[in-house]
Order: sequence, then C-alpha cells, then structure tokens
Amino acid sequence: MLSWLVEAGADEALQDAPTDWTKHTPAAAPQINAAPQTQPQAQTQAQAQDQAQRPSRIPAVEPPSPAKPAARASSTAGPTEDVVQAARLIAREANTLDELRLAVERFEQCPLKSTAHQLVFEDGNRDAPIMLVGEAPGRDEDREGKPFVGPSGQLLDKMLAAIGLDRTGVYLGNCVPWRPPGNRKPTDAEKAMCQPFIERQIELVAPSLLIFVGGTPSQILLNTDERITRLRGRWQTYTTKAGAQIDAMPILHPAFLLRTPARKRETWIDLLAVKDRIT
Ligand code: URA
Repeated sequence: MLSWLVEAGADEALQDAPTDWTKHTPAAAPQINAAPQTQPQAQTQAQAQDQAQRPSRIPAVEPPSPAKPAARASSTAGPTEDVVQAARLIAREANTLDELRLAVERFEQCPLKSTAHQLVFEDGNRDAPIMLVGEAPGRDEDREGKPFVGPSGQLLDKMLAAIGLDRTGVYLGNCVPWRPPGNRKPTDAEKAMCQPFIERQIELVAPSLLIFVGGTPSQILLNTDERITRLRGRWQTYTTKAGAQIDAMPILHPAFLLRTPARKRETWIDLLAVKDRIT
C-alpha cells in the first residue's frame, strides 16, 4: 500500500493518524464557495479554509478539531476571485519585505499552506540588483524554508558562479511560496492566489534585473502563454503594478537541465547575456 502511495506521488505524512475520508460526506464538509464578500480583508483569516479551493489530487488536511471539521478535497479548479482580491489588498498594504513576509505567513486562504511545512519566502541579498524568481519550493526548500536549496538549487548556484555571482549578489523568491504536495506543479488557482505576493516582493526589492527561472514565472509575470523554450534567451520587460519597467531574462529551469543536460549550453548563452548586461 505504501509503495503504491509513493508511486502515486504521496511523499509526505500530513497527520500522525489516518483520516477515513469515506466518513466525510460532502454534506458534512464546510461550504467551499461562499458568496462574494464586499470587504475581502475581513474574510482573510476567519473564512480562509471555507473559501479556498483544494488541490484536486491530494486533499489538504487540517488538524482534527471539533470546532473545525476537515474539508473534503474539491475537484473543481480555480480560486474564488475573492481570495485573489484579498491577496492583492494584503500585498499592497505591505511597505517592507518584513511586512510582506509576515502578511504572507498569516495568509490562510491558499490551501498549500496547510500541507507545506513552512513558508519559503526568500533567500539571498535583499539589496542585490538581480532577483531570481522560481516556480515553487520542492521538498528540500520546504524543509529548510529557503528557495532553491535542493538539487536544482545546487545547479543554479553553479550556473550563477559561472558568471561570477553567488547568493550575496542576488535575491531569490518564488511565484508560489509554499510547496505543492508531492512536488506537483501549482494549479492555476494557487498561482493566481500567490501572484500578488511575488509582484509586491519584486516591487519592494526593486531589482534592476530579473531572471525568471523556468516557464511558470515567465508566463505568470510576463502574462504570456509562450513556452519557456521560445521565451528563453530573449530579453523581456517586466512592468510592476506601479509602472516601473525592469529587464527580465527567462532561462530554462535547472530541474529541467538536470534531466536534459544537453540543454545546458543554451542556458550558458543566456547567462552570458545577463553577465554582459551587469558588467
Ligand atoms: N524550484 C523552484 O522553482 N523554486 C525552488 O525554490 C526550488 C525549486
């Protein structure tokens, strides 16, 4: 049974005791799609779990509590617009990176928070001129609380070293700051809920150059469906909500390069373009 679960992607125990999901009927579960709120901020803490959609493959499990029964996983994708709106308001109110970090830490409405060990907000130098944005933490990042510390992060460090950079000279964040269970990709709903946070993070760091690591940050932040294999190596302009324009270079994700080492050459060329821009 355990092997079967591992093959299906379940690599984390979420509770000490098993939950018998057959005992949770849809009628017993809390209402997920509540009516839209006129004051989204008021709902951010209190109605968190009720409003957020659950990832479809792996149920997010809450600690058993008589006052708050665990919700059954929803198979419908997409956040309510209320959750995205609440995230926008919260992000906009943060005036420093510390305030933003605290606000994200307190944000209960993204279902990934309940399955992740901790928030993975940032690493590197907050004053660095270069900011790298990844997709979402994996298992190692979830355990350490820092972006890009697992095998792909180690390759990323080597890639940066190749152009004379290390983590004292760059700042790192992710589009989604909680690990999606089983290392699956974040859903569109999860990405939309977290987008205001990474947008504000970029605004507060105010780097002079962005590196989008992989397809997800490139597509989300450039608002395009173009594939990373077409976007990579071509300078883009990222425009912040306040209208500031920042040069952005999309590169192939190091996890992809670990699986496909023949593509490292292209990334080397892309990083040389970054090096040219900063020297
Ligand atoms: N991949 C990412 O995109 N981000 C991380 O933090 C780790 C792996």
